[in-house]
Amino acid sequence: MESTSSSSFVILSAFIISFFLLASSPSKALTQEDNFLQCVASHSNQSMPQLYVPKSPSFLSVLQSSIYNLRFTSPATPKPLFIITPNHESQIRAVVVCSKKHGLKITVRSGGHDFEGLSYRANVPFVLIDLVNFRTIDVNIKDNSAWVQAGATLGEVYYRIAEKSPVHGFPAGACHTVGVGGHISGGGFGLMVRKYGMAADHVLDARIINAKGEILDRKTMGEDLFWAIRGGGVTSFGVLLAWKIRLVPVPPTVTVSTMAKTLEQGATELVHKWQSVASYGVPDKLSIALHVGVVDTVNNNNGTRIGSRRTIQATFTTLFLGPAAQLLQVMEKKFPELGMKQEDCKEMRWVESTVRTAGFPDGTLVDILLNRSSLPKTTFKAKSDFVTRSIPKAGLEGIWKRFLKEERPELVIGVWGGRVNRISNIRLHFLT
Ligand SMILES: Cc1cc2nc3c(=O)[nH]c(=O)nc-3n(C[C@H](O)[C@H](O)[C@H](O)COP(=O)(O)OP(=O)(O)OC[C@H]3O[C@@H](n4cnc5c(N)ncnc54)[C@H](O)[C@@H]3O)c2cc1C
Ligand SMILES: *[C@@H]1O[C@H](CO)[C@@H](O)[C@H](O)[C@H]1NC(C)=O
Ligand SMILES: *[C@@H]1O[C@H](CO)[C@@H](O)[C@H](O)[C@H]1NC(C)=O
Ligand SMILES: *[C@@H]1O[C@H](CO)[C@@H](O)[C@H](O)[C@H]1NC(C)=O
Repeated sequence: MESTSSSSFVILSAFIISFFLLASSPSKALTQEDNFLQCVASHSNQSMPQLYVPKSPSFLSVLQSSIYNLRFTSPATPKPLFIITPNHESQIRAVVVCSKKHGLKITVRSGGHDFEGLSYRANVPFVLIDLVNFRTIDVNIKDNSAWVQAGATLGEVYYRIAEKSPVHGFPAGACHTVGVGGHISGGGFGLMVRKYGMAADHVLDARIINAKGEILDRKTMGEDLFWAIRGGGVTSFGVLLAWKIRLVPVPPTVTVSTMAKTLEQGATELVHKWQSVASYGVPDKLSIALHVGVVDTVNNNNGTRIGSRRTIQATFTTLFLGPAAQLLQVMEKKFPELGMKQEDCKEMRWVESTVRTAGFPDGTLVDILLNRSSLPKTTFKAKSDFVTRSIPKAGLEGIWKRFLKEERPELVIGVWGGRVNRISNIRLHFLT
């Protein structure tokens, strides 16, 4: 993989050099591809960025490397004219300037988790800037901050913070392969949202390139634009190069619990009760996320399998920023129906909790956070919404009925309340 991509780079560089020689011949008609490449070469200050055209041997593998929705790997999905994997800001600027000059749309991909694949597909001729090699993370524990380049994943951010300190963390999403470019510009919530708010609430500064090719930071872009890119999506305004994020304190030991209950084990009543406590009835340092899916349970008769049955299963994933004994006390008081016991709880470092809440089994090494291909890829259609009132039991039962007719339905409900509800949405708010 490594050698294939570098060899295609070498081929392209050779191509560009020979092109320059040909270009001096006035009879040679220039193609759009040649023009664009020449433009990028002349605007790239440091060196030509690594670049792939559809005939490059690794074009498809690079394109598909971070397509997380397999619907968009089909041959019918429009492909970019060029994929550029820059590792320097001036190379990104060159692509912006040259795409504009040649009338090409730009799509920017950080982690590739866009539900609709908008970071790597378009219906007009386009160039894909893939920030997979643009992911330096510079953690500064002294001032509780980090500069994170757009192509870094959440898992890489969590890992690099933990490398420097066991009592610092960052409140962002549960899925470790999500990119900070798309995630933070859209808000970004995870299991610390009730304690600290969203990822976008912890952005101190940012660097973007606008359509004119200018590199702006918080000061030069102004507070209006700085507000917009923290939740409004950055794509409409430019290419996000890097965020400066503020780290948050986490205790040296946190507690994680994952409990799954089927319909037969009272899932409906539990989900119903969960709605009334999880967001507003428990301390901020407790988050219980809910996932509902369909599973096949095996019917046993004294150890002998006599059949299987499709049923609904609700999984409650709990993160508590404190010790297990304290969590059990809270649960006993607020949500005794779940029946959480000592053996359902596991104490660990915060960074280990990010591995567990990403769905990996107990004992998985934190190194998995650096593995960008460890999330199984699937084909899906996803929609999100805010639920402002509890869904009544009859409503839940209606959902289950529909679910049992579907092949692979999933319902993920996050929690709100706590700090995220107390942060004003007007600009210039600052957390302390
Ligand atoms: C499996 C899975 C789990 C998820 N879990 C969570 C979760 O726990 N919490 C949560 O809040 N969200 C979650 N999400 C949603 C996720 O945060 C968004 O899909 C997010 O936009 C993905 O960012 P990305 O960089 O990985 O995606 P990309 O596909 O790379 O980008 C998403 C969008 O942002 C644009 N963009 C990306 N980078 C840049 C850039 N540098 N400059 C300009 N525009 C850019 C793209 O063009 C595209 O429009 C999840 C999504 C998936 C698929
Ligand atoms: C290119 O590099 C030179 C010197 O290193 C610098 O003065 C100039 O601003 C750079 N230009 C761009 C477009 O980055
Ligand atoms: C169940 O199986 C065990 C051995 O597997 C056997 O000893 C026992 O008698 C069985 N009980 C019934 C009720 O069949
Ligand atoms: C990353 O995870 C994938 C899938 O689990 C695995 O096949 C691969 O070997 C891992 N890569 C590394 C470098 O550990």
